[in-house]
Amino acid sequence: MSLADRLQASRAEQPVARATPTPPPSTPSASSPPSTSSTPAPVPTAAPRRAAAPKSEALTRLKDDTMETLYAQLGGKLNDPSLTETQLQTMVRDELRSVIAAAESALSGEERRRLVEEVMADVLGLGPIQELLADDTITEVMVNGPNRIYVEQSGKITATDVTFRDEAHLRSIIDRIVGRIGRRIDESSPLVDARLEDGSRVNAIIPPLAVSGSTLTIRKFSTDALSVEDLIRWDSLNAEMATLLSACVRANLNIIVSGGTGTGKTTLLNVLSSFIPSTERIITIEDAVEIQMQQDHVVRLESRPPNVEGKGEVTIRDLVRNSLRMRPDRIVIGEVRGAEALDLLQAMNTGHDGSLSTIHANSPRDALSRLETLVLMAGMDLPLRAVREQVASAVDLIVQIARLRDGTRRVVNVTEINGMEGQTITMQDIFVFDHAAGVDHNGHFLGHAIPTGVRPAFAERFAEMGIPLAASVFGPVEGWRP
Ligand SMILES: Nc1ncnc2c1ncn2[C@@H]1O[C@H](COP(=O)(O)OP(=O)(O)O)[C@@H](O)[C@H]1O
Ligand SMILES: [Mg+2]
Repeated sequence: MSLADRLQASRAEQPVARATPTPPPSTPSASSPPSTSSTPAPVPTAAPRRAAAPKSEALTRLKDDTMETLYAQLGGKLNDPSLTETQLQTMVRDELRSVIAAAESALSGEERRRLVEEVMADVLGLGPIQELLADDTITEVMVNGPNRIYVEQSGKITATDVTFRDEAHLRSIIDRIVGRIGRRIDESSPLVDARLEDGSRVNAIIPPLAVSGSTLTIRKFSTDALSVEDLIRWDSLNAEMATLLSACVRANLNIIVSGGTGTGKTTLLNVLSSFIPSTERIITIEDAVEIQMQQDHVVRLESRPPNVEGKGEVTIRDLVRNSLRMRPDRIVIGEVRGAEALDLLQAMNTGHDGSLSTIHANSPRDALSRLETLVLMAGMDLPLRAVREQVASAVDLIVQIARLRDGTRRVVNVTEINGMEGQTITMQDIFVFDHAAGVDHNGHFLGHAIPTGVRPAFAERFAEMGIPLAASVFGPVEGWRP
């Protein structure tokens, strides 16, 4: 049925219903099964919700048709990246007004307002997940097909009762999201990883790759970056460790933050970056801009995936190489996950001290072997021993972060890389998470990372560079006097 027909019908239905006010049957209507008829009953505003159902069904259909017409009339203009959000809104609102103008007699003011709102949210916004994204307490929205939507709130993942109408509805929202940032998703390129205008990160993957239905993952951009105080307040690290890490950054150590997905690597990298003196020239390199530098002298670079024809790709590696010609004092790489590992190590070994990055690994040792693997995969045909030596001499410190069973993110190791002994890279923990402290009655881990008493070799550097650091940071050591 076309929109016009539908409007006609919905207009025709009402007077009929009103003209024949069927008296309620002997049983009270509230207990009768919900009517499946599309005829809207003459419902007073204070009627129970169930009685109002047929009406909202009609409204849903009206909404579908309105959208259909709107799409037909505006078509590609909806995804025109040259239009600003305001221009788009005005255009859609105007069009929408004229599309539902015909319906005015059948819709109450309230219904009309709701219709406009819902259509605007679907056409311009993100449909049902809009409210989740608007909720500041939600950090991540995960859509697994049209009927299963999960959110992350205070570190915990919970299911919501929000749903899309169907797969097609979800797909239209995904199309809109990726279309607005000039990307496309379809069977020939069924996955998109991108950054939204507001800095949020979005990943979309559709069938046939996503077997359980189109899947959308949105990591919301937190407008106020977490500070070192936040991390201390949440027990992710303690004040002594923060003091040490700050000194390490200022002393130009090469630091790798290691952790699993969503453990807070980028957040910690951000915090470490905040310790870089504002006199230095910083170059950040990322797949999608996440690092938020407070300093003024910052150049931000972002890689670019290939376009639809497979051209124009600029990789992290290209950017790392280029950044070396930009006279950086510091290179901060969002995450090493490919061949750029080789360039990063070379940079670290050739005078670009103080570089910072993150890597996906489950322990400091694992981080080193992952670095090795990435370098070997860069295809330079380097002998393993040479690669290992490069790693050992480039990396000074690994900060391991983990998400514990209680949902909290904690720094679990701060580990110094010392050098090579035979075939092995030697390392020693300066801080280690105290698992022995156990958990409280809520399952919350009571421990935190405590100093091992090891005084790292680089502590010498602090003294040389005039960076004060109390020896007590490293914990009490028997027989050792400053
Ligand atoms: N220490 C922390 N405590 C609580 N939440 C955190 C912490 N660090 C990060 N988060 C939150 O966890 C999510 C993932 O953080 P992010 O740094 O992007 O992880 P990663 O880079 O490891 O994937 C974000 O929503 C962030 O706000
Ligand atoms: Mg990250």
